[in-house]
Amino acid sequence: MDYFTRKRVAAIMAELQPAEDVIVMGWVRNRRDSKNLVFLSLNDGSTLNNLQIVIDNPGEVADLENIRLGAAIRVAGRLIPVPEREHKIELHPGEIRLVGECPKEYPIQKKRHSFEYLRDIAHLRPRTNTFGVANRFRSKIAYAIHKFYQDRGFFYVHSPIITATDAEGAGEQFWVTTFDLDNIPINEGKVDYDKDFFGAQTFLTVSGQLEAEIMALALGDVYTFGPTFRAEKSNTPRHVSEFWMIEPEMAFCDLDENMQLAGEFLMYLFEYALGECSEEMEFFNRWIEKNRISTLETLLKSKFEIVTYTEAVEILKKAKKKFEFPVDWGVNLQAEHERYLCEEHFNSPVMVKDYPKDIKAFYMRLNDDDKTVAAVDVLVPQIGEIIGGSQREERLDVLKKQVELFGVNEETLWWYYDLRRYGSVPHSGFGLGFARMLMYMSGMANIRDVIPWPRTPRSAKF
Ligand code: 4AD
Ligand code: MG
Repeated sequence: MDYFTRKRVAAIMAELQPAEDVIVMGWVRNRRDSKNLVFLSLNDGSTLNNLQIVIDNPGEVADLENIRLGAAIRVAGRLIPVPEREHKIELHPGEIRLVGECPKEYPIQKKRHSFEYLRDIAHLRPRTNTFGVANRFRSKIAYAIHKFYQDRGFFYVHSPIITATDAEGAGEQFWVTTFDLDNIPINEGKVDYDKDFFGAQTFLTVSGQLEAEIMALALGDVYTFGPTFRAEKSNTPRHVSEFWMIEPEMAFCDLDENMQLAGEFLMYLFEYALGECSEEMEFFNRWIEKNRISTLETLLKSKFEIVTYTEAVEILKKAKKKFEFPVDWGVNLQAEHERYLCEEHFNSPVMVKDYPKDIKAFYMRLNDDDKTVAAVDVLVPQIGEIIGGSQREERLDVLKKQVELFGVNEETLWWYYDLRRYGSVPHSGFGLGFARMLMYMSGMANIRDVIPWPRTPRSAKF
């Protein structure tokens, strides 16, 4: 199929060199017929750019009437640079072959389709400009994430997807079972999980953190980057039921050092996007949200604002704005509060730390005031929370009290306790929601458009 000999359009566009006997393969994005010529725009997925194909002997091309929008073709011919024209280079075919026909009722036509329409055809939307760019961007940023940690000596950990613990203790887990749901074994009035596949109640993981802690307390610096699942009934533009999370975990690291790493990590990704993904960033800046590039550039020159939760509540109480959810010390900050802090008060991303213990997770380290924990949320304009992290409770006695207070099932945590029994050390980490980061960098307003196959309440298509 000439897989190894064909040339990718991305390489052709980067080099802009004349060449003979070049083979390209891809899909027709546009066709224009003039009197004696036919022009095709070919896209092979390697770049946003289409390669212009100029057929100067249309009468001699077999199947030409079927080479239309959406069709797959193989073209062999001569590359000729045309620096004075917008498309810069064109291919004059010696041979053109129809590989896969595409009927006229192809759902993607030569016009702007709405994002809502495209979500229903998620199997075809990667072939549009926007979703081609979005998916290439996703891949490049995933690479940058690995590069950031690998360059710093972190080890990549594959935390399990099936788990017996509720890492966040929020009860938002999907259950994993092979029980016949119409005939569940019962013992003394309760479900007999002993008879289930794993001999215990199991779930899809909400976070790889607890297992990352195991590895951090052996390898020092580790990170996970994998799928997590939340059965959260939040139908918002920022929530999905399945998303990828990056969770670094560092031994001998306190909250302030954790926050410093989080800041450096985010800056690295912004810099990478601007420097290494210019095709994608320019596209987002032009078509998705104006000022995306200048926003990231400004950010790179600034610093993250840092406030305590207590200070944040004071700011919100003094705000002249009317919030849907009233603020008082002890309440969870809502998206509207988070956005007020970044968008109106500070006009920049913000790190909020030292939250009341009751509204955070059981594993966070209790501060000396006995009221707050060493937690941090990183908030960004338009989105709100993008990172959640903390220093972990390394003191066994305090941890046990927290577990009791939160009503977490202690039986599943024996190994977590052991980590505090044998050579316990202060350690910290955080979780970055990959999709929220992509939303922020691209300016995409809905998380369903930065995830190829989004899973949300009542929707798990494709
Ligand atoms: O704040 P969260 O729940 O933190 C944790 O899971 C910790 N175990 C992380 C750690 O310390 N290792 O989630 C972390 C991030 C959020 O800040 C958000 O960006 C993203 O994950 N997130 C979601 N993204 C999309 N849809 C959802 N339903 C999300 N829930 C959380
Ligand atoms: Mg959180």
